Amino acid sequence: MTWSNAGGPGPRAGGVRGASRRLGVLISGRGSNLQAIIDAIAAGRLAAEIAVVISNRPGAPGLERARREGIETAVLDHTAYGSREAYDRELAAALRRHDVALVCLAGFMRLLGPAFVSAFRGRILNVHPSLLPAFPGLHGQDQAWRHGVKVAGATVHIVTAELDAGPIVRQAAVPVHDDDTPETLSARILAEEHRIYPEAIGVVLDGGWRVEGRRFVRGGSSGGPGG
Ligand code: GRF
Repeated sequence: MTWSNAGGPGPRAGGVRGASRRLGVLISGRGSNLQAIIDAIAAGRLAAEIAVVISNRPGAPGLERARREGIETAVLDHTAYGSREAYDRELAAALRRHDVALVCLAGFMRLLGPAFVSAFRGRILNVHPSLLPAFPGLHGQDQAWRHGVKVAGATVHIVTAELDAGPIVRQAAVPVHDDDTPETLSARILAEEHRIYPEAIGVVLDGGWRVEGRRFVRGGSSGGPGG
């Protein structure tokens, strides 16, 4: 399969829409990656605009970070919905209302169903605290530490229906020291997440990329959508 955002109109072409650089950021907790995106925009390192921050948890500290910056926030509490499908439909509608070009998961602790993922195909990014495909799922840093790997890391990938298995946009390696604890290793990984997530968002917004098989590649000719 090949899909791309080069030359094709609209989201089905696998990239962002038109010239819009509007982000919808989804959070569940402390929001340090949200903060990294905010800071990268403020510093001029990322040309983008956060249209809305949505949390599935009413008390997520990340909401306060957004409010401090004057960014619109919304809470969509998943416990108020009868099914994943109903929740995902509401979430998709909220993101469309804000006309977002790209959905950035930043510690959003919910699985997104296939209907949501295909509605935003190629337009959802996630940051994960391991060198995928190693250690998918929860607590990637702890999994890596317990496994005893000597190199851990962080990954930004395009979200597909399969958990933590989408095309990889950016990765950063982090050495594991003998005296590391899960906490010290997590902190070092988090610093890399904060560096590569805004970079990856910029790359995806800039376009001119395509996905060949599982490979996210930039430049060159594009076979266009489909394939
Ligand atoms: C990060 O470690 C990220 O990799 C994972 O969830 C955590 C979110 O942290 N997906 P924060 O809310 O961005 O501080």
